[in-house]
Amino acid sequence: MATPLGPWAPCPKAAVARALLLGWVLVQVAGAVGASDVVVAYNLTWKSTNFKTILEWEPKPINHVYTVQISPRLGNWKNKCFYTTNTECDITDEIVKNVRETYLARVFSQPADAAGSAGEPQFTNSPEFTPYLDTNLGQPTIQSFEQAGTKLNVTVKDARTLVRVNGSFLSLREVFGKDLNYTLYYWRASSTGKKKATTNTNEFSIDVDKGENYCFQVQAVILSRRANQKSPESPIECHSREKGVFREVFFIVGALVFVVFIVVILSLSLYKCRKARAGRGRKESAPLTAA
Ligand SMILES: *[C@@H]1O[C@H](CO)[C@@H](O)[C@H](O)[C@H]1NC(C)=O
Ligand SMILES: *[C@@H]1O[C@H](CO)[C@@H](O)[C@H](O)[C@H]1NC(C)=O
Ligand SMILES: *[C@@H]1O[C@H](CO)[C@@H](O)[C@H](O)[C@H]1NC(C)=O
Ligand SMILES: *[C@@H]1O[C@H](CO)[C@@H](O)[C@H](O)[C@H]1NC(C)=O
Repeated sequence: MATPLGPWAPCPKAAVARALLLGWVLVQVAGAVGASDVVVAYNLTWKSTNFKTILEWEPKPINHVYTVQISPRLGNWKNKCFYTTNTECDITDEIVKNVRETYLARVFSQPADAAGSAGEPQFTNSPEFTPYLDTNLGQPTIQSFEQAGTKLNVTVKDARTLVRVNGSFLSLREVFGKDLNYTLYYWRASSTGKKKATTNTNEFSIDVDKGENYCFQVQAVILSRRANQKSPESPIECHSREKGVFREVFFIVGALVFVVFIVVILSLSLYKCRKARAGRGRKESAPLTAA
């Protein structure tokens, strides 16, 4: 007779012994893993744009949790993101306290079921991070532009950062001051040859050919940095002389269409009214003819 246990069935004692041995080995291995072989974080990377700063790492936890610590170079460790199962931690609040400081973070791994227990938790250090030098410059936007005669004026929007002084948020210009320049790339709408201009404010005022339409975009630049010198380029804006004329034509045509529409509606309802009155007239006269 076949049993579900197959060949082990004839020898239950040996099977029990083997199972016990296997169990003991498993417990030993699990204990060793719990004590010292928690998966440590790796690939710690800073993701930072205009001082909004997130530390990311790998791997996704299976049976453990992470806690992040952050410290200025000569400061105390501060805990962030306690016992998290995420693989990222927003530490913007800490680094905006002093953006010229150099920070170090470390990510601790702890067994999920022993969070907060004693024992030497394992950790991995992040690369050093100096917000003033390392944060990426966000994509700028063109706030306004105006072309009058041979002058083209372009104003770059001054992005707000999360850096705070006396309770108010500073703009990118207020943080970087004269270290921050903007580059303007501009070209005639009818050609592709680009020209360049720089400014250490947020305003450009450049000479252009009268009567020509121009397209342009801007880029933030901090040349004093060794890396991350340039932001992405802003979306392209085009000045179009026809825009105004086009708009006027559009309005005139729109008004004409509206007038025609009204006239048609009025004549239609007049026609209906007259027809109805004519019908009523006929009905009123009907009894007379019937009588
Ligand atoms: C670490 O990250 C880099 C880029 O994000 C990737 O190329 C590399 O494979 C990662 N390393 C590991 C061990 O996953
Ligand atoms: C452009 O900027 C210059 C210098 O700031 C200013 O004198 C001029 O009036 C501006 N022109 C227009 C059309 O805004
Ligand atoms: C912040 O406030 C302090 C004291 O009120 C003042 O001395 C300092 O100049 C202020 N800083 C800025 C950037 O306004
Ligand atoms: C920043 O722009 C100003 C004005 O155009 C220019 O004089 C200066 O050389 C620029 N600075 C850098 C570092 O490019």
